[in-house]
Amino acid sequence: MADKKIRYGIVGIGKQGSRYAGQLFAGMDKNGVLSAVCDIAQDRRAWAKEKFGDKVKVFENYEDMFNSGLIDAVIIDTPHYAHPVIAKKALEMNIHALSDKPAGVYTKAVREVAEYAKSEKSNIKFGLLYNQRTSKIYKKAKEIIESGQLGNLKRIVWIITNWYRPQAYYSQGGWRGTWAGEGGGVLINQDPHQLDLFTWLAGSKITSVNAIARTVGRQINVENDVTATCTFENGATGVFITSTHEAPGTNRLEISGDGGKIVISGNADFTMKLEFTKLETLEPEFSKTNTVFMGKPKNKTIKVKFMPHEIIKGLLVDKGQHINVIRNFSNVLLGKEKNLIGNYEEGLNGLTFSNAIHLSAWLGRTVSPQEENFEDLYYEELQKKIEEEKTNSVK
Ligand SMILES: NC(=O)c1ccc[n+]([C@@H]2O[C@H](COP(=O)([O-])OP(=O)(O)OC[C@H]3O[C@@H](n4cnc5c(N)ncnc54)[C@H](O)[C@@H]3O)[C@@H](O)[C@H]2O)c1
Repeated sequence: MADKKIRYGIVGIGKQGSRYAGQLFAGMDKNGVLSAVCDIAQDRRAWAKEKFGDKVKVFENYEDMFNSGLIDAVIIDTPHYAHPVIAKKALEMNIHALSDKPAGVYTKAVREVAEYAKSEKSNIKFGLLYNQRTSKIYKKAKEIIESGQLGNLKRIVWIITNWYRPQAYYSQGGWRGTWAGEGGGVLINQDPHQLDLFTWLAGSKITSVNAIARTVGRQINVENDVTATCTFENGATGVFITSTHEAPGTNRLEISGDGGKIVISGNADFTMKLEFTKLETLEPEFSKTNTVFMGKPKNKTIKVKFMPHEIIKGLLVDKGQHINVIRNFSNVLLGKEKNLIGNYEEGLNGLTFSNAIHLSAWLGRTVSPQEENFEDLYYEELQKKIEEEKTNSVK
């Protein structure tokens, strides 16, 4: 008997969902097969019929696709607000769900689904498409931190300002760049991977956030320029700077600890490098024993260069971060691998940071995700932004 394959359905076959549909249809996951797709837009359904013919069933709404008995798992690729709504429906129907980033727009909705999944559907898998967790460079950073070589973390700083988006991007209309359509700007659209990695690498809960979030040089209501500071439960502090209007932009992540510093820099699309400067003696130990005025701990630098993309016949070829997450999902469902690359509950960490940055900027004060009513307060303030946008739309 042929090995069992996971039968996938995809909700939302726009820019991103159509990419996964094409990859599954092309057999890029040997344990998965594309069985159905669904989109509310007629032109996307027409595209699917033309591209996949009779081999893939095309639906107008996800409820019909879930009821069809044709799929074991769904990949969710609609605009963000619908992610937790569709995920909950899938779980109710005993269909495994893999949601694209972000997990949702506000933590209240995501937490409700995560709690439902945990208490009612523990046999159904619920994952997040955090493809950048499969990047060799971030995996290496995580490995160094977990090995203890960096010692206690002191600070994590990420400047990620190379998400350049001109006015034309925002002026194209649709759901992007609006409070009602996507619930934010650079934080919710471009940054979910970095916000996830920031909290994943720190390995600790964020306890307070102070932020400025503004709109610079674009006719939009949502933020495209953010400077945030935070504290972590483990005693480290963090700085997160991001924008879509700086040219040239920067991508630089620095993680410092008692044992030295990791620096990751470069453009994600081309070559990136990781440098680990390792101290010979842990810094607190050095300071305690050193007697030289202005003495400094000795160190050695280990340079690691990565090519996230390979050059094959002169073309940059995607090494497949996204399909690797789908393969991992199939493998976990088939019992061939144990852990999901991103489980749904972890989606809360980056989103909590994102919501806390917004809330701090809106209220003009330091906020804590642990403060009473944090989630309700965020939800209420977001509704105000959506209301204001109705009468004050600049797009
Ligand atoms: N992991 C990544 O690297 C990555 C990259 C890009 C986008 N994304 C995520 O993918 C999601 C989609 O982004 P996109 O760029 O493909 O957007 P898009 O607008 O191109 O596609 C969204 C599609 O969803 C359809 N849709 C909307 N509501 C629906 C519903 N209720 N039922 C069925 N179909 C519905 C729309 O008609 C559209 O075709 C976003 O949440 C985005 O954050 C992830």
